[in-house]
Amino acid sequence: MKVAKKVFMTIPLAIVLVVAGFDIWGFFSLGTIDPAVNASRDENANRVVMVFGATGSAGDGLLKAAIDDPQVEKVYVITRRSSPRIDAGVSSGKVDMRLQKDFTDYSSLADVLPEVNTVLWGLGTSSFNVDDATYTRIHVDFPLAFVKAWLAARQNAPMSFHFIAGMGTDGSAHWALEKRRTELEVARLAQNTGLRTFSYRSAYIRPASEQANVLHYIGQGLLRPGLLVITSKELGGAMLEISARTEELANGTLIDNADSIAYAKAYRENIR
Ligand SMILES: NC(=O)c1ccc[n+]([C@@H]2O[C@H](COP(=O)([O-])OP(=O)(O)OC[C@H]3O[C@@H](n4cnc5c(N)ncnc54)[C@H](OP(=O)(O)O)[C@@H]3O)[C@@H](O)[C@H]2O)c1
Repeated sequence: MKVAKKVFMTIPLAIVLVVAGFDIWGFFSLGTIDPAVNASRDENANRVVMVFGATGSAGDGLLKAAIDDPQVEKVYVITRRSSPRIDAGVSSGKVDMRLQKDFTDYSSLADVLPEVNTVLWGLGTSSFNVDDATYTRIHVDFPLAFVKAWLAARQNAPMSFHFIAGMGTDGSAHWALEKRRTELEVARLAQNTGLRTFSYRSAYIRPASEQANVLHYIGQGLLRPGLLVITSKELGGAMLEISARTEELANGTLIDNADSIAYAKAYRENIR
């Protein structure tokens, strides 16, 4: 009984210490980019946005940000199924949903790719859910096939591709090596074109308010001191802000969680 009581008390303490350790590390080591004050913004940079992964936890917030942005005129959602937010966007007339079966073949999008300015890529899954080959197909083959098809259809700026990689993408696990490969390869494809590519080394992306439950909010509260959490809608805002600042960040820039929080704040100040 005494042992059980000790274990019962030790586990929460250990969790608190680990979270506090992460927060201290995040606070002191994240955040390498300061958004320019009074930056010039191209108001046409996000005129036409395309969202991938919009039925997912992160992508739903990226879609929410794009729908709410007054400078975005049209949103294309490329997906294998719908969601309440996609349905509402279609009803409003701002969203055009394109059902996609094969995410390595974008010939069905030939009519729209030439007009797209900004791509928010939230398509992906955990390495716990799939084997290595499937992980590579989803996180390397899908985005590379898309960027190649997009560049074949259009190369003139403003164009930006925003890829969610995740914190730890410099690691040696299969998932990290494959996401790093995609970061490097999309940046290489974009060289000498009007496209800029960005990779988000996000920590915890809290789902949008419509999807979030009490555990999500507890996670947010615990990780906030270490700048280790951003909401999915804020992340979408950060992506749109980075797109609009066409002169600020170079192709291939890596955005850590604190950087995306800073750009989300700048976005809120610019888009009211
Ligand atoms: N959530 C986080 O805190 C977090 C943090 C850092 C990085 N990330 C990264 O962000 C990405 C998205 O994460 P998430 O949490 O939003 O995942 P999620 O909730 O599982 O959503 C995944 C999205 O990708 C789509 N998708 C997955 N496999 C697909 C396939 N084989 N073919 C077509 N579409 C597919 C899903 O479409 P269906 O609905 O049709 O299945 C869904 O729209 C992942 O790469 C993840 O590693 C997430």
